[in-house]
Amino acid sequence: MKILVIGSGGREHALAWRLLGDTGVEHLWCLPGNGGMARLPNGECLAVPPGGLTDAPALAALGESLRPDLTLVGPELPLVSGIADEFTRRGLRVVGPSKAAAQLEGSKAFAKEFLLCNKILAGPLYGIFDSAGDAYSALCAVDWPCVIKADGLAAGKGVLVASTPDDATAFIDRLMVAREFGAAGDRVLLEEALRGPELSYIVLTDGEAILPLVPTRDHKRVFNGNRGPNTGGMGAYSADGLVAGDLEERILGTIVRPTLEAMAREGHPYRGFLYAGLMLTADGPQVLEFNCRMGDPETQAIVVRMDFPLAEALQAAAEGRLREINARWKPGASACVVMAAAGYPGEPRTGMKIGGLEAAADVRDTVVFHAGTKLQGGEVVVSGGRVLGVTATGADLSTAVARAYEAVGKISFDGAHCRRDIGATGGSGGASGASRGAGSEV
Ligand SMILES: Nc1ncnc2c1ncn2[C@@H]1O[C@H](COP(=O)(O)OP(=O)(O)O)[C@@H](O)[C@H]1O
Ligand SMILES: [Mg+2]
Repeated sequence: MKILVIGSGGREHALAWRLLGDTGVEHLWCLPGNGGMARLPNGECLAVPPGGLTDAPALAALGESLRPDLTLVGPELPLVSGIADEFTRRGLRVVGPSKAAAQLEGSKAFAKEFLLCNKILAGPLYGIFDSAGDAYSALCAVDWPCVIKADGLAAGKGVLVASTPDDATAFIDRLMVAREFGAAGDRVLLEEALRGPELSYIVLTDGEAILPLVPTRDHKRVFNGNRGPNTGGMGAYSADGLVAGDLEERILGTIVRPTLEAMAREGHPYRGFLYAGLMLTADGPQVLEFNCRMGDPETQAIVVRMDFPLAEALQAAAEGRLREINARWKPGASACVVMAAAGYPGEPRTGMKIGGLEAAADVRDTVVFHAGTKLQGGEVVVSGGRVLGVTATGADLSTAVARAYEAVGKISFDGAHCRRDIGATGGSGGASGASRGAGSEV
């Protein structure tokens, strides 16, 4: 099998690494890949066409020239831009939803209206607004804290859990007047704040059969104790028992299955990975958001526990016969600790050499996934904000976490920082404005 993986982050390195572990996968193209993917045996990194990852026709034309047996799309941008439709039109097998189905992530207004129409539990909506004036006015009638969301894709920066009207007004201003995220902020949602621990619940589906991945929890804030500004994710973990008792059946029965059935009924059947961002409230699980792809760094914590051939499962999903796949998981737990560059989540400093990667990889049951790295003259250097996802498994969470941090301790680059409490706290800690806290130098 020859596989094309689209994307360049830790998620894509983790997927590529797992796929190359399957017998029968003989070649893997990474578009564009990163420093870690460039060093994979049987891996090959290719340049993205000039139109970038939103130019679905150009990406599909490249796919047509490579003729992979399967294409796996990591990030949301190409999916929301219609890459799956373009590949399918050319007779190329692809894992990922159509442009219409990817609206579940591409438009939070679409997702919210879909959830409300289909009576799937989600945070109550105050309203959806197309002008800053209307949004400001609506603030008079909300309870605090109140959640403000940009409708479109904003790379994880388009949501604020605002404690005061002043914070809310300032954020609406950034979205709708300063247009920090362009058209993504031209429409905003105001919703009620839910309380509870969060959970990332991701499934693979061919539209009918559902293959649930091990549930995970991520850590969005940059500093220990869920303080500081939001990031793309500073770590994630999975553990047997993270979702207790009948909760998983409840998530599948009240959220995942109704979502897939309603999407099919409404004329856009959903295929690919569906990520439900959930709040586990006292009244049960409720949807915060959907993503149309796997999470980063959740993927890193998931792939290391897969005990079944992923390539086969993806191929079955693309061909509508996912029910044939029997997924098995390594018992225990996993943890991924993200090592970030100085300055992240602001503008990261880049170009520093990374040392100790071999020693880290020697730590038992540990893999170092690359994200913002590139090869330069045979050396691995920092090229982005989230640099590495140091990922380990263990019989229990504390063992997995200890192994990941042991490996972190062997890696060095100037200005490196990471959280020290991955797996130790409640995880994802909301999206309210920046508070102060000390980072942790490695
Ligand atoms: N209704 C809500 N109540 C409380 N917190 C919320 C709510 N919606 C979002 N959040 C918080 O904001 C974070 C980001 O929101 P989310 O909808 O996941 O958007 P995105 O991931 O696109 O930034 C969530 O992980 C959660 O911590
Ligand atoms: Mg989210």
